[in-house]
Amino acid sequence: MKKVMFQAILFSGFIVSGSHPVLAALPPNVARHKAEFVENLINQMTVKEKIGQLRQRFVSSEMPEAEVLQAITDGQIGAMFGSAPRPVSRVLQDAAVRQSRLKIPLFFGFDVIHGHRTIFPINLALASTWDMDAIALSGRIAAKEASADGLDMTFAPMVDIGRDPRWGRVSEGFGEDTYLVSRIARVVVNAFQGSTLSASDSIMACVKHFALYGAVEGGRDYNNVDMSSARMYQEYLPPYRAALDAGAGSVMIALNSINGIPANSNTWLLQNLLRKEWGFEGLTISDHGAVAELIEHGVGRTGKEAAQLAMVSGINMSMSDTFYAQELPGLLKSGGVTQQQIDNAVRRVLGAKYDMGLFEDPYRRIGIASEDPADINAESRLHRAQAREVARKTLVLLKNEKGRLPLKKDGVIALIGPLAKSGVDIMGSWSASGVASQSVTIYDGLKKAMNNGSLIYARGANLTEDQEVVKYLGASEIENDSRSSAEMIDEAVRVAKQADVVIAVVGEPRSMSHEAASRTSLDLPGRQSELITALYATGKPLVLLLMNGRPLSIGKEQKLADAVLETWYSGTEGGNAVADVVFGDYNPSGKLPTTFPRSVGQIPNYYSHLNTGRPYLPGGPRNYTSQYFDQSPGPLYPFGYGLSYTDFSLSEITLSTQILKSNKSVDASITVRNIGKRDGETVVQLYIRDVVASISRPVKELKNFQKILLKAGEEKTVRFSIDESDLKFFNAQLEYVAEPGEFRVQIGLDSQNVKEQSFELL
Ligand code: NOJ
Repeated sequence: MKKVMFQAILFSGFIVSGSHPVLAALPPNVARHKAEFVENLINQMTVKEKIGQLRQRFVSSEMPEAEVLQAITDGQIGAMFGSAPRPVSRVLQDAAVRQSRLKIPLFFGFDVIHGHRTIFPINLALASTWDMDAIALSGRIAAKEASADGLDMTFAPMVDIGRDPRWGRVSEGFGEDTYLVSRIARVVVNAFQGSTLSASDSIMACVKHFALYGAVEGGRDYNNVDMSSARMYQEYLPPYRAALDAGAGSVMIALNSINGIPANSNTWLLQNLLRKEWGFEGLTISDHGAVAELIEHGVGRTGKEAAQLAMVSGINMSMSDTFYAQELPGLLKSGGVTQQQIDNAVRRVLGAKYDMGLFEDPYRRIGIASEDPADINAESRLHRAQAREVARKTLVLLKNEKGRLPLKKDGVIALIGPLAKSGVDIMGSWSASGVASQSVTIYDGLKKAMNNGSLIYARGANLTEDQEVVKYLGASEIENDSRSSAEMIDEAVRVAKQADVVIAVVGEPRSMSHEAASRTSLDLPGRQSELITALYATGKPLVLLLMNGRPLSIGKEQKLADAVLETWYSGTEGGNAVADVVFGDYNPSGKLPTTFPRSVGQIPNYYSHLNTGRPYLPGGPRNYTSQYFDQSPGPLYPFGYGLSYTDFSLSEITLSTQILKSNKSVDASITVRNIGKRDGETVVQLYIRDVVASISRPVKELKNFQKILLKAGEEKTVRFSIDESDLKFFNAQLEYVAEPGEFRVQIGLDSQNVKEQSFELL
């Protein structure tokens, strides 16, 4: 009976009239029967239509080409990716739901990575807030803005653990730590998907890049990953799992190989781990052109072999597809792939569309023509207040000698540096729907905030003078001043000499912290270091504002400065947020989500390393310990570090018990006091060390944190409850266990300076 009803719907009820279609007319029980609905649809599909659903195709903002419309009409495309204005998406959706035989709607996906129209700070910056409400707010607004532009899915969150800052994509991730990234992963998925995924302002999350993309060799993008199972399970896989446990509807498969087998043809990854072990029932999408890249990886000779490998391994949908369309029909005939494998993949695609509410209303997010925005970039579509609120929480104060910051709003400030007036760079790496002229630059932000003072400016240096690099990054991204560097530095020094204080905005252009932007150096590019030396020589107080998407080795430059503020790429409202902190209207509270190494040679340098048999202990002998003899050991700035305009003191840790029995918990409490003159927020961080176990365990691992606000003079006691689940790890047999013995509890305001106590797990 039901089958007949569904069939009738597909052939009659689905026919749209006017610009708003019709599935609203579905009987109410349909929504409760996803599996049945999808099966019914699959039963009506031809092989060609099924394969069509497995293909994702790029859409530009131009009116669609006739060839694309025809392919959609023929049921040859299942989804689009890219950002097109609603009228363009509507035409494409019309072709799918009015012209194609089975009227299956398309879905529209795009890289909404850190904001959409309103650009929020990059993800590495968002992680620096350690503030889950702020991160949720940025994700929710991104979802609202993206869905209002007709998008159904975002290729985010990117939760790859990034421990090699040579990799340009560390800017897109949330840092080096498994626990912090996992917590953020959950928050972001919930923010994107809202209370129900089918809501018109929800977008489906596509967690990426599954798996281990952050561990590419040498930080070279698209490279290989070779990793022990214990490390995978313990350190790199949990954030993907956290995103899926939070309900992420889809997964993007990584471009790298894992222990020699490309992720896109990795049956262990896509079947054993993802489906069987983790029970994921959503959609897998290849990264851009990744099915074809199986040939380059050297696991398939031809497009036919590539398509077969990807399909058999479990790639449901092929982004920017060639070979699924070309090869799957023949492979099905020859038995190279089975009907069941294809049907399974189609099931996932249709299931995702069902969850996004597209069968009920294919125009759910595209909306109706009469409500299309007259100007997609209209100011009224932006969320500036929220962007500023979030952005100022992302800034990390790295140095502040003699309380140089905050500055007064009067007097003369010299603002120097190639990034000070850049509306493009401040948006950061994934901001395709952002408009540079709508960004508040650092110059704009400071200028607006100043009272009677004056802001004088000089560019000071170019970001790179290497023409090969300019060509690589794109001339439109790097606008160089044609003066010689000597002339520019001279001008900057002249300007600096007229000022009471000098602020230098230095760092990297955004194109250097991006996909396909791996670096061999972490130094400030171009002549910026020379510029800083020259500014220092003027004897004026010097403040560095860093704008960058990766940890930089600024050991020498930070020594010359009185204060250093990490501003990352802070988005549309970045300049205002920076001004809030520079002038003290907001007391900085950001903490680094990643270690800053002293030099590129120290990489990898992450706080949760193993102890080794010959650890270097601060203050102890260096010879025959695990460190480099030609540089001070340890990081420049540790994970979790960040100053405030006030100071905090910590009591010793009190444990509720020294003996932890299984099924019980131990409370660790510490009293934090604001001993300065200003109200301020800080992040109290709980680390645990498993002292002796069946395998070596890290010197510390973050297990919890609390961000607290303390008024001047106020104190609060922060309590962390620790139970057996906080002590578990994957042992050599990949069993997730807590082993009895001593555990050290470490609590601090960064990962290095901690108070310590021990308890024993019985
Ligand atoms: C390639 C990138 O690796 C991926 O992260 C992105 O989502 C796709 N391109 C689509 O733009």
